[in-house]
Amino acid sequence: MNTIVEKITEQLQNAFAECGYDRKYAKVSLSNRPDLCEYQCNGAMAAAKEYKKAPFMIADEVVAKLDKNPLFDRIESVKPGFINIILSGQAVADYVNEMTQAKQFGYENPEKPKTVIVDYGGANAAKPLHVGHLRSAVIGESVKRIQRFAGNKVIGDVHLGDWGLQMGLIIEELRDRKPELPYFDEQFTGEYPAEAPFTISELEEIYPAASAKSKEDAAFMERAHNATLKLQSGDKACTAIWKHIMAVSKADLKKNYDNLNVSFDLWKGESDAQPYIPSMVQEMIDKGLAYESQGAMVVDIQEEGDTKELPPCIVRKSDGAALYATSDLATLVEREKLYQPDAYIYLADKRQELHFTQVFRVAKKAGIVNPQAEMTFLGFGTMNGKDGKPFKTRSGGVMRLEHLIADINEAVYKKMMENRTMDEEEARATAKIVGLAALKYGDLSNQASKDYVFDIERFASFEGNTGPYILYTIVRIKSILNKYTDSGKTLENLSINPADSATEKALMLSLAKFSEIMAAVYTEKAPHKLCQFIYEVSNAFNGFYHDTKILAETDEAKQKGYIALICLTKAVLEQCIELLAIECPRSEEHTSELQSRGLISYAVFCLK
Ligand code: ARG
Repeated sequence: MNTIVEKITEQLQNAFAECGYDRKYAKVSLSNRPDLCEYQCNGAMAAAKEYKKAPFMIADEVVAKLDKNPLFDRIESVKPGFINIILSGQAVADYVNEMTQAKQFGYENPEKPKTVIVDYGGANAAKPLHVGHLRSAVIGESVKRIQRFAGNKVIGDVHLGDWGLQMGLIIEELRDRKPELPYFDEQFTGEYPAEAPFTISELEEIYPAASAKSKEDAAFMERAHNATLKLQSGDKACTAIWKHIMAVSKADLKKNYDNLNVSFDLWKGESDAQPYIPSMVQEMIDKGLAYESQGAMVVDIQEEGDTKELPPCIVRKSDGAALYATSDLATLVEREKLYQPDAYIYLADKRQELHFTQVFRVAKKAGIVNPQAEMTFLGFGTMNGKDGKPFKTRSGGVMRLEHLIADINEAVYKKMMENRTMDEEEARATAKIVGLAALKYGDLSNQASKDYVFDIERFASFEGNTGPYILYTIVRIKSILNKYTDSGKTLENLSINPADSATEKALMLSLAKFSEIMAAVYTEKAPHKLCQFIYEVSNAFNGFYHDTKILAETDEAKQKGYIALICLTKAVLEQCIELLAIECPRSEEHTSELQSRGLISYAVFCLK
């Protein structure tokens, strides 16, 4: 299905050609003066140079050819040579009707499908998940879904940090706390216990304690380093403890990610890359890429045209240890072997930019990935508190994700209880869905690379570009549709009529942008642009809704047209929030019923 811009362009191209001008000048875009027109073409201005004619003369000729064209309500040339376009109500209705029938509302990605690995989440096993990981999970999940929607084969990998010093710290802290465990008995030869020597809550407490201790106790730190090295060289006891840590930690992480509606196809980690490291580094040495520098092995990454000096990438430290970059390179070796991806997308804090530049360049130089592979680093900014500094707890510590979510739910719940019409169960159920939508949408609606201020008051508000506002809009439409069907009418075989009000046409025009917006969201990997679109559609719907008596309309044909239009609006909005991994209450379930009801009464209360 052609996009609406393509349909308009086609008509303009024909007109330019009929007048003897090159078709390439018939470029159409959304109007930047929506008060004057809906779409515009500035091609006559460009053509004027080639044909040595006044631009308005060209525009006049082109417009004359299109005067009677049924696609346009009005097409006019405006000095010095712009072509302003207003579509006919019929053409817009035809287009949105076509959208309702088409797969994915007509959005098609013209590229041939690619295999893409999205590396996101990036939690560090056994360490608490903090708000820094929230952005990676939330943005990454959306980027992954957008890639999939565009027809790519997408593999999401959580890429856990599971091979670092935290493991040695935990092992040694455990030794101090429970020296009687068989892992610490050098003489022990039997089978190690199948059950972990700690629960998740103990583990959560062990790591910060060990980390604090290591900062004061140099001997302890030394032991932790040794234990880490022992683990990395395959020591049986350390490996057995590591496996327990991983099992307990992964189960907990899964729960956390589930709560965020984030899920991974692969639960791999840095440890999976370790077997590839020795041969990979050797190959870099053999190829003459890696050379010794102050005892370490390094690879130069400086390229012609770089505006600043980039330090070489260290692939092996002087003590023989592997580094973060080594492990990311070896992970690429494995990914190439197992999946042969055409593209990679990594999500991490933007302060890791240099790291990824190093990894990408070395990977290409060393032939680990092929030269055409697309490698993208999506670096995200910091989530700040209202004071403009990185988000902290009240006591100044790093905010843990589950606490953050609990805090938001509580804040929303409290506000709801001010609204006396709601009972406790309803308020709890609603707070959960509003809170999560507020949190995720609050993050996704900002351009990922920018820092943003976490402002729960604003995120949880029903006004402005917020998650709750979007959910409210969808639930509002659902409630109209429910009332409509409850009165015995059906949602089948409806079609949208040409608009009979400005707000109705505006809603159709905003829906009609879907394919173009999706194309930009996909190529730019920019969920925030999807949020802008969602917000625009929601505003357009609410404008239409305030202007139009949908359920009270007595002209049945008219009413059917309205219903068809809001069905499409709902479907498009639901598709969009699905791409953001934000959930809306589904009316089939009990809690959702409560959520829906709660959401509407809460929104009405807030908006009063
Ligand atoms: N674990 C890392 C961190 O907490 C993020 C991992 C990002 N992904 C990668 N392949 N390096 O900062």
